[in-house]
Amino acid sequence: MKAAIIGTGYVGVVTGVTAALDGHEAVCLDVLREKVEALNAGRAPFFEPGLDSAIRKMVRKGRLRASTDLVGGLRDSDLSFTCVGTPPMEDGSADLRWVKEAARAIGEALRPCKHYHVAVMKSTVPPGTCAGLFVPTIAQLAGISAGGFGAAMNPEFLREGSALQDSREPDRIVIGAIDGKSGRRLLDFYKRKKCPKLTMGTTAAELVKYASNSFLATKIAFSNEMANLCQTFDVDVYQVMEAVGLDPRIGPHFLRAGAGFGGSCFPKDLSALARLAESRGARSRILEAVLDQNEEQPLRVVELAEKALGGLSGKDVAVLGLTFKPDTDDVRFSRAAPIIKGLLARGATVTAYDPRGMDNFKTEFGLQIAYARSAEGAMRDKDAVIFQTEWREFHRIRATRYAKLMRGPVVIDGRRTADAGKLRKAGVRYLAIGAPDGP
Ligand SMILES: NC(=O)c1ccc[n+]([C@@H]2O[C@H](COP(=O)([O-])OP(=O)(O)OC[C@H]3O[C@@H](n4cnc5c(N)ncnc54)[C@H](O)[C@@H]3O)[C@@H](O)[C@H]2O)c1
Repeated sequence: MKAAIIGTGYVGVVTGVTAALDGHEAVCLDVLREKVEALNAGRAPFFEPGLDSAIRKMVRKGRLRASTDLVGGLRDSDLSFTCVGTPPMEDGSADLRWVKEAARAIGEALRPCKHYHVAVMKSTVPPGTCAGLFVPTIAQLAGISAGGFGAAMNPEFLREGSALQDSREPDRIVIGAIDGKSGRRLLDFYKRKKCPKLTMGTTAAELVKYASNSFLATKIAFSNEMANLCQTFDVDVYQVMEAVGLDPRIGPHFLRAGAGFGGSCFPKDLSALARLAESRGARSRILEAVLDQNEEQPLRVVELAEKALGGLSGKDVAVLGLTFKPDTDDVRFSRAAPIIKGLLARGATVTAYDPRGMDNFKTEFGLQIAYARSAEGAMRDKDAVIFQTEWREFHRIRATRYAKLMRGPVVIDGRRTADAGKLRKAGVRYLAIGAPDGP
């Protein structure tokens, strides 16, 4: 089939590449020329493991291309996947302006369109968006009623860092179609995928995505609260949650306590859902509490540093890891920002390092800090080092290097990145979220 993908961000590019790998013909459409040029040159416009080589292969085979000509690309396709951003507005609700723009482009493309097209929404949109905004906008601009074209909500569950693998082998596919014909076409598009495929209404499918993210974020926030409690008893939360997670009703995932969750999805999706719930008279106290917990958690890291150094004024601190998780260059809502702001507010100076995210971090947050070219470069002559993202290369810093490089040395581990036992043996003061203070 011919698939047009609107928006060449993390979701759009991966959706396009996966479609091409599955034997479809994909065109990735974006308003930003530099992203389109990068793709046509065989490069992803962002860092994601394994993506560049897959893009190169598919571009070479002629199954993947990119263009800024939205209407042209859409007109020629059997399906379109809208993958534009839905960032939060000031009040936490989802900003749907790019969704509206995408719907207008689809409507315009369908106006003289002779063949049947299914407009698929992959962006995370609040329940009711497909039925109340996406489909009516397309219908109005196309001058045809829904039924003359197809539409569906098909939420995306990929995780940055393993996005291609997640998209190639999803654990489930959710199809919220407006009618049977739209659903059948989408099922046909996904015929190579062997996972469970669930069909439902558009609003239910929209809710699946929000409910999934909210539940996962709740597990993290709960683990963080347990961590803060465990710390008061000098008990290791990882020991506790490992045992908790062996209960099959709970499961082992998303129980790793730390500095809080960030990224382009959890914080914004939870805010949007909390806001929506309130506006519909179904206020969610759980979501509000999770969001509050996540705001406070990075400050625990700052407090640990303060405790270990006996105050932060005039202290030099290295922050390792700026992205919201390893294996991505995405810094959206990264917990590094509130941690660094907290350090600066208490009079510390900060030197940061991240293998992939420094440029994005500089642009997004513009904080008054220094940047180093390596982890060890950042640690040199510092009073403390804070691990904020669990990059693999940080595991490789030898325990004996800390005392050689740093004053102190003190390690504050926001992600259980370093080996506590080895560090303490090497004379390092090691403190971590939810860990006993000492061996
Ligand atoms: N990033 C993730 O891990 C992830 C996972 C699942 C779902 N989602 C959801 O998918 C959606 C996209 O997320 P993302 O991280 O890929 O966003 P992104 O910000 O990386 O990419 C969005 C892209 O859309 C483009 N765009 C905006 N308006 C456009 C228009 N009118 N026409 C063409 N292109 C346009 C932008 O230029 C940008 O390249 C969001 O709703 C997000 O919540 C994201």
